[in-house]
Amino acid sequence: MKSTKATALANSNTALIKYWGKQDEKLILPMTNSISLTVDSLSTTTTVEFSEKYQEDHFFLNDEKQTGTAENRVIEHLNLLRSKAKMNLKAKVMSRNNFPTAAGLASSASGFAALTVASCKALDLKLNQKELSMLSRRGSGSSARSIFGGFVEWIKADEASESYAKQLANKDHFDMRDIVVIFKQQKREFSTREAMKISKETSPMFKARLDVVETSLDKMRKAIEQRDFTLLGQTAEADCNLVHSIALTSKPKLSFWIDETVKIINLIKDFRKGGIAAYYTVDTGSNMHILTLPQFAAEIEMILNRIPYIVKTVVCKPGDGAKIIDNHLF
Ligand code: DP6
Repeated sequence: MKSTKATALANSNTALIKYWGKQDEKLILPMTNSISLTVDSLSTTTTVEFSEKYQEDHFFLNDEKQTGTAENRVIEHLNLLRSKAKMNLKAKVMSRNNFPTAAGLASSASGFAALTVASCKALDLKLNQKELSMLSRRGSGSSARSIFGGFVEWIKADEASESYAKQLANKDHFDMRDIVVIFKQQKREFSTREAMKISKETSPMFKARLDVVETSLDKMRKAIEQRDFTLLGQTAEADCNLVHSIALTSKPKLSFWIDETVKIINLIKDFRKGGIAAYYTVDTGSNMHILTLPQFAAEIEMILNRIPYIVKTVVCKPGDGAKIIDNHLF
């Protein structure tokens, strides 16, 4: 029986200059470049087996069979990869996140990067990281950046074959911490994909960000290159605030901050007054990220762990890009 199997591990990434808005919904071409940090402690492991024994594709996440949108997005991605490999065997995909899915942490970046790398290996498609990032992008935009470790930039382009991620600096270049703060989960009204589309079409602030994003990207590249943590933190916060102003001024209004987010933002301001270098960024869940330097991480974590509305904190370091591993999940 014809059968081929591979397993990959991919880390999540935290956007320092965010990807927000597409110029092409199908090809997942972004309106702007984005810059992120691949982190070491939030990862997805995925085993993919293509085999004649499967009549259809199956996708399990944390041992639960997935249906609906989650399953459809995986099948669509498998179809893309199969067409590239000119092969049509059905697949079983098993993924496991090393963080609780119920915590609502974004898993599409690590998820699609692991799926792409494992599938390409199983399909014997010999691709370099640039090519893998272009394919991964089609599953979920931010996953293009998780192919690489350390500090990564995803380049916008009008052509599908020119929009890929590249490493700006490896994980050892600039040692910093990303403390992920997990609050009790709120039900999300819109997916990130829907929210991005709504805000591009309806927010008057969307264009305002396009006018300044090149400057923000320049500042972020410089901050990374020169290991300037203050510039990195200030630039990440400013971009985060712009993206959330876009969300808030969309129709319908998209609001991702909860009372707790604002309380932690105020705490971060107090940290800074007390000489602790800390900055925030927030994505489309209610969780948030505190960017800090290694020497402040333990103290910040200790303070956060005393706060009753914080369910969990995860201290992340700069991490590696997606890679093939030997331990299959099935
Ligand atoms: C807010 O990559 O999840 O995290 O391409 O539609 O799958 P799709 O979106 P996705 O968007 C992530 C948006 C963000 C910012 C970022 O990661 O840059």
